[in-house]
Amino acid sequence: MTTILVLNGPNLGRLGTREPEVYGSETLADIGERLQASVPDDVVIELRQTDDEGELIGWIHEAVDRRVPVVINPAAFTHYSYALRDAAAQLKTAGVPLVEVHLSNPHARETFRHTSVISGVATGVIAGFGSDSYRLAVDWLLRSPS
Ligand code: DQA
Repeated sequence: MTTILVLNGPNLGRLGTREPEVYGSETLADIGERLQASVPDDVVIELRQTDDEGELIGWIHEAVDRRVPVVINPAAFTHYSYALRDAAAQLKTAGVPLVEVHLSNPHARETFRHTSVISGVATGVIAGFGSDSYRLAVDWLLRSPS
């Protein structure tokens, strides 16, 4: 059994109604269902969302301890959470992959979105493909040597 943690930061629980012209009309639950349907039966997608920085950091610590690969959309924390970056760095040290994903392409948006404090400790970054960003990240994790 392979487990992948798919972690989501603030306001992503509002997908579906939140700025659909930017983020699409799927809810996070829709994205999770499509992801689970796209993977083999022995792969478990654990999809979680929080608006709380400390809770998100706790989930990264859990991933380090369980050695579970992570797909994370840190949402606005991407741009300023050094605490989340320091947590993600522990995954890098442990050799556990973390893929940063975004629904939109932050580089084509406001200037404050052009900086990610997470990317420097991520294994890779996928942005701008809507909910397919998550699927591409999971596809890569399943094909990468672990
Ligand atoms: C986002 C981009 C961030 O800039 C923003 O704060 C989000 C969502 C995305 O998925 O495109 O909440 O991470």
